[in-house]
Amino acid sequence: EKGGFASFMDKEIHDQPQAVGDTLLARTDERGQIVLDDLRIDESVLRSVDKIIVVACGTAAYAGHVAKYAIEHWCRIPVEVELAHEFRYRDPIIDAQTLVVAISQSGETMDTLMAVRHAREQGAKVIAIVNTHGSTIPRESDAVLYTHAGPEVAVASTKAFLSQITAAYILGLYLAQLRGNKYPDEVAEVFDELRLMPARIQEILDGAEHVREVARSMSEASSVLFLGRHVGFPVALEGALKLKELAYIHAEGFAAGELKHGPIALIDEGQPVIVIVPSPRGRDSLHSKVVSNIQEIRARGARTIVVAEAGDDDVLPYADEVFWVPQSPVLLAPLLTTVPLQIFACELATSKGLDVDQPRNLAKSVTVE
Ligand code: F6R
Repeated sequence: EKGGFASFMDKEIHDQPQAVGDTLLARTDERGQIVLDDLRIDESVLRSVDKIIVVACGTAAYAGHVAKYAIEHWCRIPVEVELAHEFRYRDPIIDAQTLVVAISQSGETMDTLMAVRHAREQGAKVIAIVNTHGSTIPRESDAVLYTHAGPEVAVASTKAFLSQITAAYILGLYLAQLRGNKYPDEVAEVFDELRLMPARIQEILDGAEHVREVARSMSEASSVLFLGRHVGFPVALEGALKLKELAYIHAEGFAAGELKHGPIALIDEGQPVIVIVPSPRGRDSLHSKVVSNIQEIRARGARTIVVAEAGDDDVLPYADEVFWVPQSPVLLAPLLTTVPLQIFACELATSKGLDVDQPRNLAKSVTVE
């Protein structure tokens, strides 16, 4: 069943072009308009939504963070992302104009389920982004947008994560179209870019030998820091979580802009730091700020491992290693920049002789609080 791969995780990382492609299937009509026939929430209700709250745990919550950047930009609706277990106990402000989006691979995570129940009791509508058909969360939600990642066996989430991000983009584009924030041809344009993402992910998978080499060289590391900005920030958090879970290495993800506000004190000789660099074709100031962060930490002795877009030569003077990803629109980049970090964690853990499919102390779905 592992299809010739050493682990389910390795297989599932390689399933990602298909997982993303399948999640995109049958979501548009011949004009490129998004059609979510199965959404079951009145269009008038979705038009009147004035706030979105994403509830999820762990990796699924990081997919929610990515969704926030895209949905706020495309739809001009404020989006909050809440860890489901914090949300329920916080007396959150929700009403009939609030749309709650619950993201879960298993559809069984107890905290997320409880958040869904709480939101519905307060009159909010809930859309579930879920991978497992017939699970509890979609049954208890008003609507569901299934990710089509296929069964995810390895405990650490990989293909479900990219599929969750993809589904969140689809939802964002749908809302933008419905509420008139975007013209149909603009929606079709972004959707066409999304359709190109599976091939770009495949390119990363095909060229990942350098990522593996660097990972193997770091099996003795005791701490790895991850820095990202904008949509690269949740990617940094996800990269750090994968490394903790799989390789039992202390790892921390930071917003690059926070560096001077504390984390830079951690940098000393040889400290590995993985930096996710925003596209130089995006907002120029963001790119140059992150490049100067790399320069600053390198000057203090960090070993800099940089995830950058093909052609971004600005990073070369300050990068000890570069993991290249293909060019893509800024908001869609997490579908690419995440992939080398998954491979990195998987390979590093494997080189330490660890079981990447069943990391210690973890369960695939957390059905207790
Ligand atoms: C990390 C991981 C977990 C899950 C979290 C939520 O690799 O797998 O953080 O993302 O437990 O699980 P689901 O998505 O099933 O609700």
